Amino acid sequence: MAVLMKADNLHKSYAIMHRTVSVLRGVSFSVESGTSVAIVGASGAGKSTLLHILGGLDTPDSGTVIFQGTDLYRCSAGRRSLIRAKHIGFVFQSYHLLPELTVLENAVLPAMTGKGTVSSFSAMKERARELLSRVGLEERAQHRPMELSGGEQQRLALARALMNEPDFLLADEPTGNLDDETGRQVLDYVFDLARERRHTLVVVTHSEQVAERCSRHIRLNEGILADDREQKNVNT
Ligand SMILES: Nc1ncnc2c1ncn2[C@@H]1O[C@H](COP(=O)(O)OP(=O)(O)OP(=O)(O)O)[C@@H](O)[C@H]1O
Ligand SMILES: [Mg+2]
Repeated sequence: MAVLMKADNLHKSYAIMHRTVSVLRGVSFSVESGTSVAIVGASGAGKSTLLHILGGLDTPDSGTVIFQGTDLYRCSAGRRSLIRAKHIGFVFQSYHLLPELTVLENAVLPAMTGKGTVSSFSAMKERARELLSRVGLEERAQHRPMELSGGEQQRLALARALMNEPDFLLADEPTGNLDDETGRQVLDYVFDLARERRHTLVVVTHSEQVAERCSRHIRLNEGILADDREQKNVNT
């Protein structure tokens, strides 16, 4: 199977109050196209930090991330932005929705800079409405993010990440604020879509329900990764 993303020997530390905290201490792993990987680990282990680096959003101190053959941190910032816009969807742990835009406008946003597969603004809005309906937000299109519950904001963040049909979807606790039933419906949609379109997923999660659906589990502990267990032929 072709490798979509290869991370090699990633290191990242933060300086906090004259102290250096080493969060990643040599993380290496590859993700093959069309597979799903769950990253698990204790709170503060560095899962979000790692996901941001894999998604081209935060520079490592050292190490490389090769995505579809491009070294993300040795290419220009412009090229990195373009790759992100065209190929990578990101669901942030804290959503990062734009408060002044409506739900529909937030969902449409990536298409404005993205692949250009959606021809017109009305077609973009049509696609955004379809995604909103898939995550149960069709009635909320004209609301602002502040008017949504935490779980509704989370579903909007997921719809936005899917807007450009990303090859690589990175999601940080995508169902952390959802009840079991809503979480299951949203996950059914994401995994069905990933299987149909051969999208590749990396999901940070504390949820067994989410981790079970991934083909591979990786545990981040004390700055390094260990393969947790392999699950073959499940939603890959
Ligand atoms: N911008 C930053 N400045 C300083 N320290 C940071 C920064 N971002 C993260 N850290 C530190 O890095 C460590 C890892 O943080 P990270 O958010 O990656 O953990 P996490 O595994 O995602 O945790 P959680 O499960 O609680 O979301 C934490 O100790 C945190 O304090
Ligand atoms: Mg986190």
